[in-house]
Amino acid sequence: MKQTFPLFPDQASTVAPQVDALYFYLIAVSVFFSLLIAGAILYFAIKYRRRSESELPHGVLGSLKLEIAWSVVPLLISMTFFFWGASVFFAINRPPNDAIDVSVVGKQWMWKFQHADGQREINELHVPLGRPVRLTMASEDVIHSFFVPAFRVKRDVLPGRISILWFEATKPGRYHLFCAEYCGTKHSGMTGWLEVMEPTAFQAWLAGGSGSESLASAGGKLFQQHACNTCHRPDSLARGPNLEGLYGKPVALAGGRTVVADESYIRESIVAPNAKLVAGFQPLMPTFQGLISEEGLLQLVAYVKSLSASRPPPGAVPPPVQETFPEREARE
Ligand code: CUA
Repeated sequence: MKQTFPLFPDQASTVAPQVDALYFYLIAVSVFFSLLIAGAILYFAIKYRRRSESELPHGVLGSLKLEIAWSVVPLLISMTFFFWGASVFFAINRPPNDAIDVSVVGKQWMWKFQHADGQREINELHVPLGRPVRLTMASEDVIHSFFVPAFRVKRDVLPGRISILWFEATKPGRYHLFCAEYCGTKHSGMTGWLEVMEPTAFQAWLAGGSGSESLASAGGKLFQQHACNTCHRPDSLARGPNLEGLYGKPVALAGGRTVVADESYIRESIVAPNAKLVAGFQPLMPTFQGLISEEGLLQLVAYVKSLSASRPPPGAVPPPVQETFPEREARE
């Protein structure tokens, strides 16, 4: 199967066939109209060529039917682009709730990964087959772009922001990952491998790790170290908002606006606390810009997320539970 000169990357994720189908549809429509237009040009050029010096064409007064047809037909065709494209866009941008978390830091010129339970990797990411994986990504310096061609997913990784990307691998194997945004001298070397493993092999791989601590507990330590807990506490001595149950919830801001407490908001509130001041609080918190590394920020974000016990991501439904139906059982 391995081609020496592959024309097309493997299809190895759930969205890959969707992206490809849309892509081939766009190509087919483009080819059809290119041929139609080129053919019409040739045909008309021959059919209506000038046959003698004195030949005069007769006037054309227009045709309403024709004009409506060439307005409505392209409109309908371009609407198929829109609706199909939007449905693929939503599939790519909505991570499922049961996704496993991996934090990613891009820096000149490498990719650093950390799994939820602490396992670290550089330029290599191990993921299980058939499980959605959610990447929480940040950049330590310039703009990078995380790209796995075989998965048909790509997302810019920006300084000062958190980007989210998810995928579900459907084929075991080793796939190239790239930085797809020019980021300096060794941009072309900012590549790596994504290894898709059978779930049991993945568990074994995770268990064989160096026993490093989980993202959330590393974040919890930072939280103590930087004395965040002296202000962010559940009791009456709190000078900052209580962070328990915060993640994914709407937050009322001082200006009357509301934001959803997602990863980017939590990160921003650490480095620029007054950018979105919570209603009812004083702008007392100092900035931690430059005091905490990008990885540290992701750990803190993971910690704050872990404070929401059932932490459904924004707009999510709670995970399925084994339910009993007392009324029904009583009736039976
Ligand atoms: Cu990082 Cu190009």
